[in-house]
Order: sequence, then C-alpha cells, then structure tokens
Amino acid sequence: MTITLASPLTLPCGVVIPNRICKSAMTEGIADSNDHATEKHVNLYKSWSEGGAGLHISGNIMVDHRYLERPGNVVVQDKSGFAQLHQWAVAATQAGNQFWAQVSHPGRQCARISSGQPLSPSEVQLKMLATFAKPRAMTEDDIQDAIQRYISTSLIVKEAGFTGVQIHAAHGYLISQFLSPVTNQRTDHWGGSLENRARFLLRIVKQARAALGESFPIGVKLNSADFQKGGFTLSESAQVAKWLSDEKIDLLEISGGTYEQIKLLGHTGEESEIENPELDKNVRESTKQREAYFLQYAQTIQNAITIPLMVTGGFRSRDVMQEALANKELDMIGIARPLCIDPNVPKKLISGEMTTAQQHAPKLWSGAFGPASKNKIFRMVNIFGDVAWYYHQILKLSENKALNPKIGLLRGFFSHFYREYKIGLTRKWVQRNRR
Ligand SMILES: Cc1cc2nc3c(=O)[nH]c(=O)nc-3n(C[C@H](O)[C@H](O)[C@H](O)COP(=O)(O)O)c2cc1C
Repeated sequence: MTITLASPLTLPCGVVIPNRICKSAMTEGIADSNDHATEKHVNLYKSWSEGGAGLHISGNIMVDHRYLERPGNVVVQDKSGFAQLHQWAVAATQAGNQFWAQVSHPGRQCARISSGQPLSPSEVQLKMLATFAKPRAMTEDDIQDAIQRYISTSLIVKEAGFTGVQIHAAHGYLISQFLSPVTNQRTDHWGGSLENRARFLLRIVKQARAALGESFPIGVKLNSADFQKGGFTLSESAQVAKWLSDEKIDLLEISGGTYEQIKLLGHTGEESEIENPELDKNVRESTKQREAYFLQYAQTIQNAITIPLMVTGGFRSRDVMQEALANKELDMIGIARPLCIDPNVPKKLISGEMTTAQQHAPKLWSGAFGPASKNKIFRMVNIFGDVAWYYHQILKLSENKALNPKIGLLRGFFSHFYREYKIGLTRKWVQRNRR
C-alpha cells in the first residue's frame, strides 16, 4: 500500500500518529517571568492542533532555570507551573494529535542575559557579538545532574499530559556539544572517541526509557552533521543513529547545523565543511533535494536504523513530500516555518487543497552582506533578523492577533534584541525578588 501524508504511523512503542506531518519544534519565547507556560501557549497550540498535523513538538523546554536558550523559555524542573503545563497539553492535543515536549539544555548556546557562565563539555566559547558568555567545563557532578534533569523534566511533562518527549540533541545545544569534537575536548570518558562523546545522549535515552516506560514515545532530534570544520560528521551521525535505534527510541528526527552554521534554516555560514562533497553537489542539483535539504543526508542515516525516521528542513511542496513517503525515504515529514504563516498548512496539504506551503519571511541581504558574509555583524543581522521574523509571527498567533508579515530584516533584528533583553531583565527582577 502506498504511504501518503494521510497514512497513520505506528511507533515501536505502539502509539499511533494519525498522519505523517509533524509540526517541528519552534521556541515560543512566551513564558511568564516564572518560566511557566501561559495563556499564550494555550492559544497558539489550540490553533496549531486544529491545523491538522499528526504530531506537534513543543519549542525547547529547559531542564534548568539557570540556563536558558532565550528569555521566555518554559522551564520544567519541578511541579511549579504544573497547572499551566497541563492546560497547555490539553489545548495542544485537542484534535487527537500527539504532542511531545522537546526537552533541552542550551549548554554554551545560553543567552548571556540568563547566565554569565553557562555550562559546556569544555571551555569553548561561542563568539557571536558577545551574546554568549565563556562556558565552564562541566564537572562529573554537573554531568550527572544534567542527565537527571532531562529525566525529571520528562516525567513531569508526561504527568502533565504531554503524549511523548523529544530529546534535543541537535543544533549545537548541550547534547550536540558533547557530540562535537569542536566543543567537546574532554579527555575523560565523556570525550574523545565517538562512543565517549555519545555517552551523554545514550545515558539520557536509556534512563528516560527506564523512567517513562515501554509504551511512552521517546524521540531524538539529531544533526545529520554540524557542517562545521572538525565538527560532528555524517558518518558519526549514522553511527549514533544506529545506537539510538538499538535503544528502540520511537522516532529519529534529522536536521543539521548549529548557531555558527545555520544549515537548519537552509543557510550556509562562513566555514561550511561537508564530509562528502559529491553528496552536497547532488543536493544542490536535484530540485527535490534542494527543497528538502537534509533528505539526501538522511538516506545514509536511514540505512543504519530500523526505527521510524523524520526529516525536517525545507519541505514545502506536497509532491515532494508524497514522493519521499511513497519511496520510503522517510516516515514523517517535519515542517516548521510555514506554520507561522498559516496554522492550517498540514490540513490543507493532506487534503490536497494546498500544493505548496508558503514561507514568506523577510528578504535576506545577499553576497558580501548576506548570511554567509565574512563579517560577523552582517551574518548575525541576516540570521537573527530572519528568525526574529518568525518569532514575531508566533507572538501574534499566540495573542490571537493578525500576523505582521511586513517587518523587515533590520526591524526584526533590533526588535528581537529589545524584546529579549526586556523579558530577560524583568525575569531576573521578578525571580530575585521572589527569593
Ligand atoms: C522561529 C524558529 C524557532 C525554532 N526553534 C526550534 C527549537 O526550539 N527546537 C528545534 O529543535 N528547532 C527549532 N527550530 C528549527 C525548526 O524545528 C526546523 O528544524 C527548521 O525551521 C527547518 O524546518 P522548516 O524549513 O520547515 O522551517 C526553530 C526554527 C524557527 C524558524
């Protein structure tokens, strides 16, 4: 039988996802000053749930209030905010879809406003206009504490009504930092060989399965590669994927890149490195592969695993999605940015009412001023200005207000930093006065 966007997917744990479209994780930035979910989460996910995707993954939920990816992140480290978390889960599952929490720790990609000394496997700073402080290398106690936090956050979201969890091991966040030799220069059993670098992720997955049970979905988001000199490579990713498959996780989502190399959004940064230039050439030459820019890499990973595979990044046309599913190149299609413009994209793609999902977004600067510029300032304006455009639309959706597609790159960039600092400072003030 031909698999289509409308086909259900049975996961290894037995849970059935009603169709093959997933709304991939997008950080919302709308938590209150206590880092709890709000009415805005309820509004946003109600409309996304009605939009028809079989699986929805929350924006990254932090495991430790000391280290945020950005102010406005939801933090789940204890039962405070449990009622709000439950309301969020109820709203996000109202159409009978799955709703998984993306469980994450930023490591060195931690907003400076939340911590002047983040944690990372080694002291390798992310140098982007001083927005990220130099990290402290984690001690054995820090590592054990972080592992426990991933598990306790997962247990709390399960109790609150989330129907699964996704461990975020991609995009340069903490687990991804352990996987990469650039950020993990440890000489103990957490660094060095791939087996050692993957130990942190595999411990979390093993302990999460033991704590959450056999029938609760556990997914992992993994980079196909970091596309960075000396970083985590495609062949390493395939090996880690095999280990995750041996652990019987339920869904592996493939993406790629880090803050320094924003491949996840289809941009190429300054020092792009790929292991197999032939593969990259094919990606550029085939329309299908150019649209779904990790699909070609995902094939290498699919050969190594026996669990369901999801690929996220650039999928827009119904034909490309249906063809990839029919050819069994993957099992689920991940879509993010188009849902910031129209929450009903999944429903429309499944019914055939829509043939191509729209992305809009501000026009990026090009050439020497573009996202691959040698100049850090231009790179950052393009990348943050682009992402901020989507943050802005998410905010509008969450407030049940009309979208504002007209904001340009510069306005997006500056209003983003203004809002982040305002929220970050308010949060600091509120939390300091509470103690
Ligand atoms: C505004 C925005 C926020 C994002 N936040 C997250 C996140 O919290 N966690 C994550 O894994 N990926 C995040 N992503 C990446 C998306 O999940 C996805 O991998 C990427 O946008 C490519 O898919 P698309 O081409 O369908 O947009 C974010 C992307 C955008 C645009």
